This record gives sequence, structure tokens and C-alpha cells, in this order.
Amino acid sequence: MKNQHRKRFTQALEAIGLATAVTLTVGVQPVIAQNNAPDLAPMPAVKPGNAAMIELGKHFFFDPRLSGDWGVSCATCHDPKKGWGDGQALSTGYPSMEYFRNAPTVLNSKHRARFMWDGRLDGSDAGTLVRDMITEAHTMNMDGRLMQERLQQVPEYDVLWKKWRKDDINGMRVFNVIGEFIKSLETTNAPFDKFAKGDNGAISSEAKAGYQLFKGKANCIACHSGAIGSDGQLHNTGVPENPDVLKNPLRTITMLRHYATSGLPNYMNTRTDVGAYAITKDTKDIGKFQTAQLRDLKYTAPYMHNGMFKSLDEVVAFYNQGGGKGSALKPLKLSASEQKALVAFLLTLSGDPVTVKDPGQPDMQVRTFGKN
Ligand code: HEC
Ligand code: HEC
Repeated sequence: MKNQHRKRFTQALEAIGLATAVTLTVGVQPVIAQNNAPDLAPMPAVKPGNAAMIELGKHFFFDPRLSGDWGVSCATCHDPKKGWGDGQALSTGYPSMEYFRNAPTVLNSKHRARFMWDGRLDGSDAGTLVRDMITEAHTMNMDGRLMQERLQQVPEYDVLWKKWRKDDINGMRVFNVIGEFIKSLETTNAPFDKFAKGDNGAISSEAKAGYQLFKGKANCIACHSGAIGSDGQLHNTGVPENPDVLKNPLRTITMLRHYATSGLPNYMNTRTDVGAYAITKDTKDIGKFQTAQLRDLKYTAPYMHNGMFKSLDEVVAFYNQGGGKGSALKPLKLSASEQKALVAFLLTLSGDPVTVKDPGQPDMQVRTFGKN
């Protein structure tokens, strides 16, 4: 969809009360190597974002005042100490809710073609993603206007805001500053990047063998290409359902509520995670999820949209057996040492831990605005 159309489409959805935008991007072209086959690429040079916005966004990211009950911040589910995810298979969600999918890392958001496991949001629009995280009942359950009023009563935030612009704290712009902050979080110093830029000793010979398998016999490159190791497309790899979703009524509820909001026909009879199908309603998309990035896997276990695999060994074993039900993947027939080499290679795509200190929550104080 063209940007203008998408905007109008989104506005129309908002007008009928569907706050969750259901736009899908057309996808990005994979990075093409000289021989015309897709390849992985080193992280592009960092273009610094707007420093004043990033500073504000950092404060808001860690502040639970942005959630309805003042109980959760972005960092509750995207914790810097847990690879900017929450370390659990399935996300806990907002208090009294439990979510039916895993909380992914927010690292390298700038390089994502789509957001969310089912790819339902446009990766170029971090502001909309942040809005959904804040207003959705299962994440932060916050009313945008209430958020604006709360933040305006924090003098320190007003000072930080005025370093950016002259007006007062505004809800829509809060979404964008948090977006700017997450876009500043990137993998740095990964051994693979040094290797790809010519430092032949930056990765072990086992990892080099793993890279050849990745591009050759194991054909991971068919989907995992470019700087973050994702073609930005939707595929069905047949990851098994996480049984906890159906065992736990609270998780079943968030799944069905997601289907109801997405307008999935006959959703009450759906008891599996249908992935992108709930958004596109095209049966070809049943069980499709967006290709996960392969950066910083060292910090982001468990893996997949429902955290079904605890380790990279389990992930590689899964692909080696030809993926799961419904996928077009074929068994790879990799030996034990080849599987080990593949894991060693995957780990070279992880960089230094990206650490940001929680700046703490500055006090509130009743402030007056304009002519009182
Ligand atoms: C209660 C837990 C929770 C909170 C709080 C939360 N998130 Fe999330 N976040 C998730 C889950 C779960 C997903 C995946 C949802 C899906 O795919 O259906 C997600 C997805 C994302 C993604 C998409 C990543 C990708 O690669 O697709 C980004 C970026 C993100 N969140 C940023 C934020 C920001 C910024 C905030 C604060 C404004 C926030 N989240 C608050 C749980 C949470
Ligand atoms: C047909 C496309 C395709 C191929 C081929 C493929 N993947 Fe994936 N990969 C995906 C998709 C889609 C996901 C997300 C699936 C999900 O969450 O259900 C994924 C997820 C992953 C994850 C989980 C990352 C995370 O953060 O949860 C890892 C690791 C991974 N793949 C590694 C590999 C390796 C190694 C190979 C080669 C043996 C490979 N993939 C081949 C499409 C593919």
C-alpha cells in the first residue's frame, strides 16, 4: 500500500474503533551479493538520531507512569538485562492479562521491515508501534490523554522536552520520541561484522564452516539475509504450538481477543496461532510469521514467536528435521558437528551487550499552564 493510502486506511480503521493498525508492508528486497545471491551484511554505520528525543524517549521507556495502572513500563517486557525482551517463552502481558506470544527484543528496530511476529505493523513507523504498545489492553492499557496529563505534571520531563521543542508535552509526540529511542539501540561490535569487513581472524574456523553451511547445505540464507538476518517476509516454518496458550485461559483470552480485533471470521473456533492469516485473511498465510532477525541471539532465548525452543541447538535441530507441520522445509541431513558449527556461526552475529541504565522516575508536582 502506498504511504498515503495506508495512512488513510489506518485513519479509517481508527474512526471505526480499531486502534490496532492492520497495515502490512510490501516487504524489502534482500541484500544482494555480487553473484546476485542474497547474503548477510554487516550492520550499517550508525546514523545518530535526534539526541534530545532519544534522551526523553529513554526516560519514558523506563517509566511505568505510561501504563494504565502505573505498574509496567516498556522495560518490564523489554528489559535491557534480558536482551531487551523478558526472557520468558510467552509474555506475561499487562497485569490480569497473559499474552499468547513471546516478547521480542527491541534491538535493531530501525532495521525491521515489519514489526510484530505476524508482521502486522510497518517497520518504518515506530510511532504507531509504540502507540499500540501503550494503548493495547494486553500491554500497557493506557489512555493517550491520561498519559499526556500525567507526563505534563513531571517538571523534569518539561525541562527535557523544552530542550527539544517549545510546546508542551504532547501524547502523539511521546510515541515518536520513544520510537526514536528504540531506533537508537543497535548491535555493535559483532565478530561477524568485523569478519565481513575483512578481519579474517574475527571468527573461528568452526564459525566459518557454519557460515558456509548457512549459505549452502542448510540454506538458511533463503530467508535470513541482510544486516539483521531477515528478508522481512512472512514464512511458515511450522513451529509447534505452545501448549501453555490453551492450558491457560488468560492466554487463550488474549489470543481470541486479538482475532476478534483483527476481524478474523469464525475466530471462536480457532485454537491455534494462525499468524499473518488473522491480518490478511488469506488462507495462504495460515501459520506464517515474519522472519526473525538473527542479531544478538546470545541474549534473547527462548526463541520463536511462542518461545518453543530454549536454545539455538534446539532451533538448529528443528530445521535439521525439516521444520514442522505445514512448512515447505526439507530435512537438511546435517551431522552433529555441522549443527554445532551452525550454532557457532549464529553466535558471531551477536555484539556487545547493549546496556542503558534506568534513569529513574522523577517526581510529579502539580504544574500550571497558560493563563490560570
Ligand atoms: C506487557 C509486556 C509488554 C510491554 C509493557 C511492552 N511490550 Fe513491546 N512487545 C510485547 C510483545 C508480547 C510483543 C510481540 C507482540 C506480537 O507479535 O503479537 C511486543 C513487540 C514489540 C516490538 C516489535 C519488535 C519486532 O521485532 O517485531 C517493539 C519494537 C516493542 N514491542 C516495543 C515496545 C515499547 C517501546 C514499549 C513501551 C511503550 C513496549 N514494547 C511495551 C510485550 C510488551
Ligand atoms: C523459509 C524461511 C526460513 C528458512 C529457510 C529459515 N528460517 Fe529461521 N526463521 C524463519 C521464520 C519465519 C522465523 C520465525 C518463526 C516463528 O517465530 O514461528 C524464523 C526464526 C528463526 C530463529 C529464531 C530467532 C528468534 O529470535 O526467535 C532462528 C535462530 C532461526 N530462524 C535460524 C535459522 C537457521 C539457522 C536456518 C537454517 C538452518 C533458518 N533459520 C532457516 C524463516 C526461515
